[in-house]
Amino acid sequence: MSKRKVLVLLGPNLNMVGIREKGVYGDETAQGIEMQIREYAESLGFECEIFQSNWEGALIDKIHEAKGVFDGVVLNAGALTHYSYALRDAVACLRIPFVETHMSNVFAREPFRAHSVLSEVCAGVICGFGKHSYFLALQALKSLM
Ligand code: DQA
Repeated sequence: MSKRKVLVLLGPNLNMVGIREKGVYGDETAQGIEMQIREYAESLGFECEIFQSNWEGALIDKIHEAKGVFDGVVLNAGALTHYSYALRDAVACLRIPFVETHMSNVFAREPFRAHSVLSEVCAGVICGFGKHSYFLALQALKSLM
C-alpha cells in the first residue's frame, strides 16, 4: 500500500517561531521544529509536506491543491484561525480530515484567541503543547485513517 500523505499547513508569523514571543512559542527555530515534524510524520509512516505562508490566498490555494493529493492536513492557521471565513470555506471544500493545531493554549491568552472560525470544519483541535501539538495532531490524523 502506498504511504498516506499529510500536509502540515502553517499560517502567518509561524516562520518567526524562535524569534517571536519566546515566552509563548519557545526559542526553537521554525526550521528546527519543521525538521522534527517531518521526522515524526515519517516515523508514523506518513509522507509529509510542510507549507508555510504569511498570505491568506496562498494558504487557500494550497488547500484547493490538496484535494486528491493529501489524505489529511495538520493546520495551524495562526491568527487567521480567529477570523478567516475564506480559509474556513476552503477547508470545507475538502473531504479529508483537518486537525486544527496551536502551539500555545489559545484559551489561556487574550479573549479573541478563544474563538476559532475553523474548529467547526475540522475533525478536532489540539493546542497548548508547544511543538508537541504538531506531533499530537499527526497522531490524531493517524487514528482517523
Ligand atoms: C497560534 C495561536 C494564534 O492565536 C496566533 O495568532 C498564532 C499562533 C499558536 O500556534 O498558538 O500565530 O496559532
